[in-house]
Amino acid sequence: MSRELSLKGRDILALEDFSAEEIRLILNTAKEMKNIVGRDIKKVPALRGKSIVTLFYEPSTRTRTSFELAGKYLGADVVNITSGTSSIVKGESLRDTLYTIEAMGVDAIVMRHKAEGAAAYAASVVSPVIVNAGDGAHAHPSQGLLNLYTIEENMGKLEGLKVAILGDVLHSRVARSDIQGMRKMGLEIHIAGPRPLLPRFLHEEEGITVHDRVEDAIEDADVVEVLRIQLERMKGGLFPSTREYARIYGLSEERLKRANKNAIVLHPGPMNRGWEISESVAYHVQSRIQEEVKNGVAVRMALFTLALMGGKHK
Ligand code: CP
Repeated sequence: MSRELSLKGRDILALEDFSAEEIRLILNTAKEMKNIVGRDIKKVPALRGKSIVTLFYEPSTRTRTSFELAGKYLGADVVNITSGTSSIVKGESLRDTLYTIEAMGVDAIVMRHKAEGAAAYAASVVSPVIVNAGDGAHAHPSQGLLNLYTIEENMGKLEGLKVAILGDVLHSRVARSDIQGMRKMGLEIHIAGPRPLLPRFLHEEEGITVHDRVEDAIEDADVVEVLRIQLERMKGGLFPSTREYARIYGLSEERLKRANKNAIVLHPGPMNRGWEISESVAYHVQSRIQEEVKNGVAVRMALFTLALMGGKHK
């Protein structure tokens, strides 16, 4: 007997926890949600009576704002907590902060933290649905999903497409979530960047080709995704200088010409324009960087809808 697919009550910690069918359900739901985002009046009552807290220990523009808007468009009450303006500055621990939020009866906590595994820890100690909005270099599942959504929307399919991922994979939770999601959905992954920024696991994974030259990764690609150089997570010495990085690894118009002529360019943001991506490519006709942001709202609405509609069943 077939079981209806449901994500009700599921924590969203990493894409490795989701099957291809579940990712397909999220992408299809996001398509419905995008119709709402495009309306003049965006509010629907789907999550009226539900409450969501965003708990951010690291800075964010796109992720926090789009989760907040996603919750509000669905009619939920959304409250934002950032580490600098809460009792975290008085030394309150993560565990006590989570207990405090749980005690107020919230249905979901969207959490960003510098420690890998922080979201999984939260899911193990409190009952609200936990949505990982980035934990160190480990995972950023909603970014991985919005990238898949943007690729499919532009290319009409996912399976069999060639994706080039360029740059600082070592520090990138986005790259890890991309790789997990893209492999499940049948994309062919090519990676290039400075060797010290390419973690060992890439060389051992089936379905990933690692190149020394970015030109080789980009050749005939359908999608070119550029990663941010995460200077804040580096102790230094992993590449000579940002100028050298731009010269050898940066995505320029010249390099982009090696991709398929209809290829799209992605970047999770925020961008270091002039370093990993040139100014002209960032605003190029093939760039879908602003679309990624727009799609992020629809994808996050889909996650809330699927995980919270009909009550908590943990
Ligand atoms: N892509 C991303 O996570 O951006 P923010 O840091 O602005 O949320």
